[in-house]
Amino acid sequence: MLQEKIDAILAQVAEMTADNAEALEALRIRYLSKKGEIASLFNDFKLVPPEQKRELGQRLNEVKTLVTERINALRDQFGAVAKQSNRVDITRPAVPQALGTRHPLSVVRKEIVDIFARLGFTLAEGPEVEDDWHVFSALNFAADHPARDMQDTFFVEQDEQDVTRNIVLRSHTSSVQVRTMDHHKPPIRIICPGRVYRNEAITARAHCFFHQIEGLYIDKGVTFADLRQVLLYFAQQLFGSDTKIRLRPSYFPFTEPSAEMDVTCMLCGGKGCSFCKNTGWVEILGCGMVDPAVLEASGIDSSVYSGYAFGLGIERITNLKYMVKDLRMFSENDVRFLDEFRPVH
Ligand code: PHE
Repeated sequence: MLQEKIDAILAQVAEMTADNAEALEALRIRYLSKKGEIASLFNDFKLVPPEQKRELGQRLNEVKTLVTERINALRDQFGAVAKQSNRVDITRPAVPQALGTRHPLSVVRKEIVDIFARLGFTLAEGPEVEDDWHVFSALNFAADHPARDMQDTFFVEQDEQDVTRNIVLRSHTSSVQVRTMDHHKPPIRIICPGRVYRNEAITARAHCFFHQIEGLYIDKGVTFADLRQVLLYFAQQLFGSDTKIRLRPSYFPFTEPSAEMDVTCMLCGGKGCSFCKNTGWVEILGCGMVDPAVLEASGIDSSVYSGYAFGLGIERITNLKYMVKDLRMFSENDVRFLDEFRPVH
């Protein structure tokens, strides 16, 4: 008797289905509740003769396990469906989209360009592949000037006989001064950001390419005092109103007189620390009055016009502002580094 009832239930297990919660509960009540079919089998079991108890007891336990597992499996299916349909919680705040950041060099370039834009400088650009004239000759570099040398300059085309026929990757943005003077008459007031190339081994402190910003102002009666005042304004806008500047005599073929500009160290405020090697000053740019020969080379009458020019490295300024120790970080595109420059709102 019991054996047959067990077999009957076993036959039903595979057929048990429920496509809603009520049907599932009905199944549970029918088989697994206190008065359900399995419980009633256990009642019957009490009457089984002792010699059959062992075998039937085992079968009874098996059928109970099977039915329980089947009902649980059906419930799991339901659970999954139920969970899924609950998943859209329209009140939940959206997961923020991961946005990229501006490259630190772009951030600083924009900051610098904006400062000069406030003084009336307009943006100018020129090509990275340049002829010798715009990079060197028009800027008063002698034919044997060492900057023309292989050690500094990348050549795209090199003429052994006549250096003025060379095509190079520009080694400074001063070439854009010449390009602008080719096409515009004074007054000229431009700021030119761009990438430049120099044949240097790549280390933490040097790279074969970097970025400069060039400034040029040509008009009647432009003096060194104008240059100094504009650079002071620039330094104070960029590094803070306490910043002081100093100009040291220097040499560039295309400016006369020429100077290098230092600003008070942004770490110690000028007192002297290890960063500024105890001098209180750090160098940030080169500048000078445009050499009359450069004006004449571009067809500008140097007896009527004068001007100043300056050039600075964007990497250098970025290092000073953000204390980046290794130049290579700027071109490695490591998002962990780039993410440090996320603007804070
Ligand atoms: N071109 C110079 C350099 O690359 C910088 C500079 C620009 C100096 C303009 C004076 C005037 O070092």
